[in-house]
This record gives sequence, structure tokens and C-alpha cells, in this order.
Amino acid sequence: MLASERHALELDAADPLPARRAEFCVPPVGTSGASAGEAAYLAGNSLGLQPKALRARLGTELDDWARFGVEGHTEATRPWLPYHELLRGPAARLVGARPEEVVVMNSLTINLHLLMVSFYRPTPRRHAIVIEDSAFPSDSYAVRSQAAFHGFDPGEAIVRLAPRPGEAALRTDDVVRFLSEEGERVALVLLGAVNYFTGELFDIDAITAAGQAAGAVVGWDLAHAAGNVPLRLHDSGADWAAWCSYKYLNAGPGSLAGVFVHERHLADRGLPKFAGWWSTDQRTRFEMAPVVTPVDTADSWQVSNPPILAMAPVLLSLEMFDQSGMPALRAKSVRLTGYLESLLDEMCAVATRRGAPEVITPRDPERRGAQLSVRISGRDVGPLTRRLRGEFGVYADARRPDVIRLAPVPMYNTFHDCWRAATALAAVLDA
Ligand SMILES: Cc1ncc(COP(=O)(O)O)c(C=O)c1O
Repeated sequence: MLASERHALELDAADPLPARRAEFCVPPVGTSGASAGEAAYLAGNSLGLQPKALRARLGTELDDWARFGVEGHTEATRPWLPYHELLRGPAARLVGARPEEVVVMNSLTINLHLLMVSFYRPTPRRHAIVIEDSAFPSDSYAVRSQAAFHGFDPGEAIVRLAPRPGEAALRTDDVVRFLSEEGERVALVLLGAVNYFTGELFDIDAITAAGQAAGAVVGWDLAHAAGNVPLRLHDSGADWAAWCSYKYLNAGPGSLAGVFVHERHLADRGLPKFAGWWSTDQRTRFEMAPVVTPVDTADSWQVSNPPILAMAPVLLSLEMFDQSGMPALRAKSVRLTGYLESLLDEMCAVATRRGAPEVITPRDPERRGAQLSVRISGRDVGPLTRRLRGEFGVYADARRPDVIRLAPVPMYNTFHDCWRAATALAAVLDA
């Protein structure tokens, strides 16, 4: 029953939060006739889908640029000079912050660097940076380059915390234990709140508290958390965080990123920052003074004037999240991911003759977001995901050699998408 297509369709029909799939451009699959249709797109943790409304939004900015030229800074439909302020409220709601604690700017790794300029203040005795052993490579490269920039040996300064032997995901308890035992040498903790590889959701409050109790600064990479799980950054006490908006936030490839700096740091004039003309108080910006007039908001981490064509998709996305609401999206996400998990357990265990695929994402819904990472030992997942897409119209992400990632995104995925993905995987494994 669970594994029948009809059941999946019934779940969709009965769901209290119907997917907003029709508002997105879902990649087409099949060429014509009965096989033509839409993909089961479970790759929104890599790149979210395009909202159909975006074309008109971008058109408005292009039209305003054509019509007003430079005067668009004040006369555009949404004037460009204060444009980033439109994003502040919805971005703050998304991550559980106060409006003055957030700003949308740059891309993620650039923001990690700008924040580390302020919050990685190493000394000879305390210069370690703690990351996950399976941190996304960009974070790993960024922290290594920061340590080297300050004259430390990255091989010694960067502590990579690995899961216990035989386990795939790093436990929050183990991070906390490390920080209580060895925290006196740690300057900065920088973890992915949802790990990109395993899909594990860490306990942000517990790790933040443990890091700060040890005297370290605690920052979070929310690339896989923003728009995926509810966040309460302000209350968690986290020192800072940064996220991109091209995954669960559907703002388009390489789109702009977000930054959170906790209120308690906003008026700290002693923090080093890299500055530009957007760092200064906007009320006096055009007096063209040679020295920055500081502002006590996250805006003071801005450097350049923001790209409006890149901000328009983020604004639209944040409006959609405001409309749906993270609590409802999370509730749906738990249902969708749990359903996919049961299907994988049921169908793939029966289908494969070479050992069942293993879900390496934590089984506890509290310890994960939308993503399930599935290890398929002994199979090269590159060709396997190509077959899933080519033969079944199922988009999954290959992490070679043997892990695929499937992310049912509550904003646009359906129970039927999950059913298609599990059925296709079972068929491919059985072949
Ligand atoms: C966890 C994590 N951090 C950092 C990045 C790099 O982001 P960007 O290229 O936008 O700087 C990614 C990209 O997928 C990511 O998943």
C-alpha cells in the first residue's frame, strides 16, 4: 500500500500544504507523447528551481533601467539605493534574527571571508578553527587560507572533526565534548548547520553554547539550512552565520548570499572589517567623505553597491517563504522526507540483490532537514544518477564514489515525486 503510486497521489491530494509546484519551472522530461512530462526534481539542495514569477520581476528592473537610467536609484519601481532594505525583514524572519542583524550581499564564501576578518582573531595560543571533516570544500579552503593569512600552518590550525568509526554523521555530542576538552586552543568553530554530504542537522544551540563556553567564536554555514529547517539564530546566541540562496531559496545559480551578525557585536567598533562605500552610513554616503561613518547594523559588513538584478530573485524567494511560512514548510518537509525514507527502506531492500542501499542521513527527523543521502556500496553513482534522469526523469545528485543525495523540497516537491524517485532507484538497482 505504502509503495503504491495511488497512495502517493492520495497523500498529495490530502496534504494540508499543497506543493507550489505550478509556480516553478520544473525541468521537462521525455520528448513527446505519453513519456513527456515534468521531472521528479530532487536536486533542490544543489540548485533550487526557478519561480515562474521571476521573469516579470527581472523585466521590471530591466524596464526601469531602460526608462530611468541612473535615476532608477531613486525612481525605479523599487528604488535601487535602498533596495537591499526590502530583503532585511523577510531574511531576518527566515533565519530567526532581528532585522538589524542581517544583510543580503555577495556570495557565500566571500561572506565567510568577510566575517572571518572580523571574527577570526587568532593568537599563538588560541588559533584553531574547528570544522567538520566532511565540510564543503569551499569552507575548508576558506579556513585554511585564513589561518595561513594570519601566519599559521593550516595543517596544524584546522581541526577536522570526524564521525565515530563505523558512523557516517558527526554527532553533536562529540562536537560538544571536543570543545569542552580542547576548546582552549579553539579561536573559531565553523560548521555547516546541515552538513552538505550527510544531511545531518546539528544542534545549533548546544554547539554554540559549548564553543562560547570554551572561549571560542561560533559561526555557522547555513547553505543547506536556510529555507530547509526553521532557524532561531538570535536566540541561539550564534556569533555569526552566512548562507547562499540558490539551494532551498530558489534564487538562481550563484545568487546572492545572506549574513547574520549577532546583535551583541553590532556596535563593537573594535572589530576589524574590510570596508567600501556601502559600509558607511547611507545618510551621509554621498557626501563622499574619505573615512567610513560606521553604522551599528549588519549593513556595515557591506562593501559594494548591491547588484539589483541579482537581488530581485532573492526578494521574490523571500516573499514566497513568508507566504508559505517556515513552520508549515518544515512540517511538510518532515512528512515528505519520512515518506521517501520508508519507500527507500521498503522498495530498495526488496529490489536490490547486491545488498540494500543505506540511508546515511540520521534517521531521527530532528537531526536532519529535507535531504536523504543514500550510500550504494559497490556502485558508481555517476552512471546511476544519469540513468535515473535519462530513463525515469528523476533528478538526484551524485557524490562519487557511492553516495546519492535526494532532497524532497516542500515548496515544490510532491509525494508522487518521492514515489517516482524510489521506484526509479529500485529499478536501476535491480537491473
Ligand atoms: C556548505 C557550503 N558552503 C559553501 C558553498 C560555496 O558557496 P559559494 O560558491 O556560493 O561561495 C557551498 C556550495 O554549494 C556549500 O554547500
